[in-house]
Amino acid sequence: MYKSVYIRTFGCQMNFHDSEKMLGILEKEGFTETDNPSNADIIIFNTCSIRQKAEQKFYSELGRSISYKKRKTGMKIVIGGCIAQQEGKNIFKRFPDVDSVLGPQNIYMLKDLIMGKRSSIAIDDNPEIVNINLPLKRADRLRAWVTIMYGCNNFCSFCIVPYTRGRERSRPSEHIISEVNKLAEDGYKEITLLGQNVNSYNSDLDFPGLLRHLNKIEGIKRIRFVTSHPRDLKDDLINAISELQKVCEHIHLPLQSGSNRILKLMNRGYTYEEYADKILRIREKVKGISITSDIIVGFPGETDEDYLKTMTALKEIEFDGIFSFKYSARPKTIASKMECQINDDTKSDRLKHLIEIQDKITEMKNKALEGTVQEVLLEGESETDKNKFTGRTRSNKIVNFQKINIQKGSILLVEITKGRKHSLEGKPINI
Ligand code: 5AD
Ligand code: SF4
Repeated sequence: MYKSVYIRTFGCQMNFHDSEKMLGILEKEGFTETDNPSNADIIIFNTCSIRQKAEQKFYSELGRSISYKKRKTGMKIVIGGCIAQQEGKNIFKRFPDVDSVLGPQNIYMLKDLIMGKRSSIAIDDNPEIVNINLPLKRADRLRAWVTIMYGCNNFCSFCIVPYTRGRERSRPSEHIISEVNKLAEDGYKEITLLGQNVNSYNSDLDFPGLLRHLNKIEGIKRIRFVTSHPRDLKDDLINAISELQKVCEHIHLPLQSGSNRILKLMNRGYTYEEYADKILRIREKVKGISITSDIIVGFPGETDEDYLKTMTALKEIEFDGIFSFKYSARPKTIASKMECQINDDTKSDRLKHLIEIQDKITEMKNKALEGTVQEVLLEGESETDKNKFTGRTRSNKIVNFQKINIQKGSILLVEITKGRKHSLEGKPINI
């Protein structure tokens, strides 16, 4: 019998990749993915609790699904992801129509939960997670995510992740290498290695060692990774990025704040000066590297002076792009109990000005690329203009150019003709 599943994913790349695992499991059980929740046999929410806004979005969509369920007998609602882990059985109390609650460490239990073989909740700590290789239904055919580690041990004082995704655990390198070999056989060109803190990957190999092995796999053209922690970024990784041909010239290195006082309260383990020094070293060794970052404004106790230090940091470092957020108090975290929480208007003001400054810097960085020739991986037709192709530079910038007779997945040289705020325009050369 035809059975359908609708999945709605919130949050980070890790969550989107977890959804690929859930779909992989269900595909084996004969389910097909649908984009119509009102008629699905199973609705899965893969949730995010990193900020309150993501949570609120989920709760409002959950309400709508419950109304669908009332109209379709046998429909099941599964809550996965970080809210599932954090709220546990409270979800059933608040929403009796929910059938199952599945934490991010227990995705392998999805089949049993749906078949009703086990109790309807799976949120136990799961050290075995690193040895479980789940089937995957990948969303893309060129670029693939590959988990290299789970969890986080850093306990940044604002962050809920260590409470929802558990302790840091690295997958054995042989599992990762054989997954990437299989991806190459299947025609994938690019991999993105995923972990909360890839620099502390530690199995039989360390992270630079893992990169060296993956760099040898034929067929794979590009290797990316997220996220790096500034404290654990050492010269051996910088050397690996610089030496290994397939490792792309882009690093996402969350600074969070430019004020040492705030960095300390955040428990980040570095000062602004140490961070800036690492940026200098990276730029010196890896020519043309793009550097992106995460910034939080309105952390408890953040004064105008602290905030201005973050602004100064943005101007000094000149990131290629940032993700910036208003601080959001999260349950269980140390920062949520700190005094001097900042009011929302101040946070909004600070965020607005920060974005204005960074937008100018991003545009300037993109303009500086005009006239250069970039290696681009062709991803396909542009979503906004049917006459154009879209691809990415090694530094992870989007490039749009006129369609030519060349296959998706090809790597080509493109001369950049225009740098814009969110993308580049170019024209292919040597074709
Ligand atoms: N409030 C705002 N931003 C947060 N982040 C993590 N926790 C919070 C929070 N409580 C941001 C950090 C992190 C990114 C993934 O999300 O900048 O790097
Ligand atoms: Fe959260 Fe810090 Fe771990 Fe990143 S490194 S997931 S911000 S605790």
